[in-house]
Amino acid sequence: MTLFARITGTGSFLPPRKISNQDLVTQLTARGLDSSDEWIVERTGIKHRHFVDDGVHASDLAFEAARRCLTAASRKAADVDLIIVATSTPDMVFPSTASILQHKLTLAALADGDTQGGAGGAAFDVQAVCSGFVYAISVANAMIQTGAARCALVVGAEVFSRILDFNDRTTCVLFGDGAGAVLLEAATHDGDGPGILATDLHADGKYRDILCTPGTVSGGAVIGNPLLQMDGQAVFKLAVGLLENTARKVLEKANKTDADVDWLVPHQANIRIMTSTAKKLKLPLERVVVTVDQHGNTSAASIPLALDHAVKAGQIKAGQIVLMEGVGGGFTWGSALVRM
Ligand code: ACO
Repeated sequence: MTLFARITGTGSFLPPRKISNQDLVTQLTARGLDSSDEWIVERTGIKHRHFVDDGVHASDLAFEAARRCLTAASRKAADVDLIIVATSTPDMVFPSTASILQHKLTLAALADGDTQGGAGGAAFDVQAVCSGFVYAISVANAMIQTGAARCALVVGAEVFSRILDFNDRTTCVLFGDGAGAVLLEAATHDGDGPGILATDLHADGKYRDILCTPGTVSGGAVIGNPLLQMDGQAVFKLAVGLLENTARKVLEKANKTDADVDWLVPHQANIRIMTSTAKKLKLPLERVVVTVDQHGNTSAASIPLALDHAVKAGQIKAGQIVLMEGVGGGFTWGSALVRM
């Protein structure tokens, strides 16, 4: 018998302010820049994204997704002994967004009359940009498998609208805000039951400049560009190869093949990256969860957002094998193979 980390609930949240391509095109036109709904849809597959209002932070989105996730798993905040938030747009330099989320969950539990509040377990952030969620789920899986945690809340939460350059038409149309969460719980079985079957993580810092937000805070001032900058074509070319590579590695680790995958839940960056990856893995598009049209690239939030969508829509069912994979700034990339 082996210890597995199984997904017992999912949840997600998009802030209410929905921005269409046309809304952005109107803003760009006012700045003297050309764009169109047709260009954005054809090159990216994105139709809408959601942006937070002033004063709303990643922890607020994480809180909503986490609450929905706990409800889906029939668990309380007090049951959770580990919180990991994957984010590149944290509320503050420190403390971690995970600590802030833990406090928000505790206050909500107390307000609901649950005197136990939050569990007081470990809480920390993972920063791996668009691969953040697969990094976070891999760390939580390892902690559950070693007995360091039994009930882990893993959240991807981003407010990328805060770091977009609205004078750069090649990047500002791509990203959105949102959060998604899963609850992972320890389960013991002989290998045929639900749980994370394998994970695979990588990074190569030599590509750090092709996708970055290089600014930093020093002496009370922002030094360098605090907005996202990207070489889109370089990212595109690199991403497809890396996604194929990590998918093959994780399948090999779990002793599975392409044919065993019921659903691919890729990072929702761009429809063309997703279709190219599916083609390389010989997976028909009907088995790829696509939600990028609805929320754009939400970085670390995109995989759990797509996963929750497919679970709630009844597409992903118990017992099916799901391949989640991400790629992003760093460069980082990785995957997790899960039996639901
Ligand atoms: N509207 C209209 N025209 C535009 C826009 C826009 N919003 N943005 C760029 N263009 C123009 C360019 O300026 C260029 O014009 P030019 O020929 O006069 O110079 C033309 O469209 C073609 O530009 P390309 O960069 O060649 O367009 P491409 O087909 O490569 O698409 C894109 C650009 C969508 C960014 C693409 O490179 C891409 O998808 N890259 C992957 C990046 C990505 O998804 N990043 C997400 C973050 S990374 C991650 O999550 C993995």
